[in-house]
Amino acid sequence: MIAGHRGAASLAPENTLSGFKKALQSGAKWIELDTQLSADKTPVIFHDETVDRCTNGEGLVADLTLSQLQSLDAGSWFSEAFIGEQIISLEHTLLFFMENDLSMNLEIKIHHSHQAEPLVDEIAKVLAKVNFPNEKLILSSFSELALTHCHQVMPEIRLGYITEHDPLVTLEKLKPLNLYSVHLDHKILEQTMAKKITDQGLKLIIWTLNDVTQADKFRSWGVEIIITDKPDVFINA
Ligand code: G3P
Ligand code: MG
Repeated sequence: MIAGHRGAASLAPENTLSGFKKALQSGAKWIELDTQLSADKTPVIFHDETVDRCTNGEGLVADLTLSQLQSLDAGSWFSEAFIGEQIISLEHTLLFFMENDLSMNLEIKIHHSHQAEPLVDEIAKVLAKVNFPNEKLILSSFSELALTHCHQVMPEIRLGYITEHDPLVTLEKLKPLNLYSVHLDHKILEQTMAKKITDQGLKLIIWTLNDVTQADKFRSWGVEIIITDKPDVFINA
């Protein structure tokens, strides 16, 4: 299974509607995207702590309201073809996924200055409001606090632990969360580690693999979903 990373980060500005459309056109059934809170507590789709790299504005996402964020151009940094692309809310994004029968790997992005609980609480409200289907959703995070709070407020939703380190010790600690998946940086994955993870009944997901020649190796190790910036290349192959 192939998931577009931040939409389809090689084809369109990351975490935008154009990116989700590119992933969909590529044939991806899954998309990974990042969410965090605006100043007025709306979950928006954005990766970095500041808007500096991916918009024409500057400052912390957490200091800007939804309408301030939406007044920025989130496309022209990528290419002229995407001038006028807007930052979108999680709610809008969920509706787009439902209309197009897409599955979502929603990364709960907790930057240094952020608290996990308020974001998780707002995500729970939006999911309930649009009645997003649980079977099309994985909530994932590097943050153990975010995952713990998800388990408390949305125990019915599948949880994935994201890491770039050997996960085995942390997995022991996270047992009470009844995790669904482990999302590993592909650079650290070895076959023995893969086996230890899948032997625990956990699904194995890797990010961010852009070299399609490695796909078969990872698949033979039990990797279930490959997250890539190039969903078009992987699906064509
Ligand atoms: O969800 C896995 C991957 O996206 C984690 O890294 O920095 O791209 O959010 P990052
Ligand atoms: Mg991410």
